[in-house]
Amino acid sequence: MSCKVDKEELFRLAREARERAYAPYSGFQVGAALLAGSGRIYQGCNIENAAYTPTNCAERTAFFKAVSEGEREFEAICIVGGRQGAPCSFTAPCGVCRQVMMEFCSPETFLVILAADQEHMKEYRLEELLPEGFGPDNLKQSG
Ligand code: THU
Repeated sequence: MSCKVDKEELFRLAREARERAYAPYSGFQVGAALLAGSGRIYQGCNIENAAYTPTNCAERTAFFKAVSEGEREFEAICIVGGRQGAPCSFTAPCGVCRQVMMEFCSPETFLVILAADQEHMKEYRLEELLPEGFGPDNLKQSG
């Protein structure tokens, strides 16, 4: 299913999610808004941990919320981030989050929107951020 991507709405929801970031160790707050094929939008924030490695990025929080609600198709994600108290700056997804996107999204069509504000957004297709990505298709038998 394909929905029209309302980038302003995704930005608004990503910024709202960023306010709920739990980032007492890095002080870097990230928010994400993920548009699923159903048309529903899932928000996520980063959630840090005193043991550091269990930290979950905003993007993966949004994906795991959505997948756990039954979503399997995705259209776009908007990401905002910045140091606590500072305005949003362009924040690109980490490699682990790109790999999670690769599991559920079409590399050719899934849109990754990095936003500083409503007027300053950068857009990429997943294949630009993860060229030659390894995904579910690689495990399908050929021949
Ligand atoms: N972080 C995200 O949530 N998403 C990104 O795209 C980059 C990094 C988080 C992880 C950690 O809580 C903090 O930002 C600093 O790395």
